[in-house]
Amino acid sequence: MKATITSTAHYVPEKVLTNSELEKFVDTSDEWIQSRVGIKQRHVVNEGEASSDMSTEVAKSLLQKRGISPNEIDVIIIGTVTPDHPTPSTAAIVQNNIKAKNAWAFDLSAACSGFLYSLETGARFIESGKYKYIMVIGVDTMTSILDFKDRETCIIFGDGAGGVILEASKSNSGILGSILKTDGSGAESLNVLAGGSKFPASIDTINQRQHYIKQDGKKVFKFAIRKMSDVSTQLLKENGLSGTDVDLFIPHQANKRIIEATGERCGIPKDKVMINIDKYGNTTAGTIPIALNEAVEKNLISDGDYVLLSAFGSGFTWGSILIKWNSKN
Ligand code: UT7
Repeated sequence: MKATITSTAHYVPEKVLTNSELEKFVDTSDEWIQSRVGIKQRHVVNEGEASSDMSTEVAKSLLQKRGISPNEIDVIIIGTVTPDHPTPSTAAIVQNNIKAKNAWAFDLSAACSGFLYSLETGARFIESGKYKYIMVIGVDTMTSILDFKDRETCIIFGDGAGGVILEASKSNSGILGSILKTDGSGAESLNVLAGGSKFPASIDTINQRQHYIKQDGKKVFKFAIRKMSDVSTQLLKENGLSGTDVDLFIPHQANKRIIEATGERCGIPKDKVMINIDKYGNTTAGTIPIALNEAVEKNLISDGDYVLLSAFGSGFTWGSILIKWNSKN
């Protein structure tokens, strides 16, 4: 039995932050951001708006598009590194917001790979035969951990959420395979140091700006291209395919140059690579499901198409998932 995606949705906050606005409080330029990263603008939450709010919008839209009631959802999995609170989970808050009273719900932490890890987990639950409908959401409110004095990070990220409903495929289509990886030796290159059990919040951690995301951009850049292209190529090969067989490649949207180099290394034609980083920036666990839903809404995917997803992020975590699209099931 294979799992298949039968509903997609996304939500981004209304408020837009342009590169020109960023120029006013950090030493950068619209020209630099567009040429080095490919971002023109990003959406950002209003004060008081959190990951559960964006996820709840996605969840409602997923249910409405699939035409099922909240009671039918068995499990809610939310990939995020910016939960509303350390506990309870954002998934529990969403479960209550949408009144999915038969669902159990949990968050999964894998940074930019959060949606892929969650999708893999949900797919395996479907394959077990125990569950019928699983909701998988990737969401991040990156502005809650951004240092607007650090030009290496604050220009990259944005806020947003996307998700899917998974159910058992009635054919041989759906999620064909996956390769997911972790290398914890990369922890120092991309992290938020404080606010957990190692460095609980204190006056010192705040004064040292340790609650913000920090990265070694150059190192992450190189690893991201190499690791995403290696697993994508391997996954295609395992399924008897090559880059030219891919109908749509939806990579994590971290930097346009990373996206283009990865697609090239996998031998995927440029016009088959989904890019929307210009509008949203890097929404961490949100990028892939947002792009997936945009692709569905723009009719860029048809049943029978090979859709390849790939991500790389903090941990390091990375991976690829291959889908033979089958939305009508
Ligand atoms: O989702 C996973 C998380 N993160 C990533 O995937 C990020 C991966 N890394 C990247 O996307 C890129 O490394 C960055 C966008 C972070 C940086 O781009 P880069 O092309 O690697 O820039 P760089 O660090 O090589 O810096 C080039 C120059 C430097 O100036 P000098 O030394 O050549 O005079 C930087 O100081 O650009 C300068 N610079 C900036 N200038 C204007 C760095 N950031 C900025 C900025 N605005 N925001």
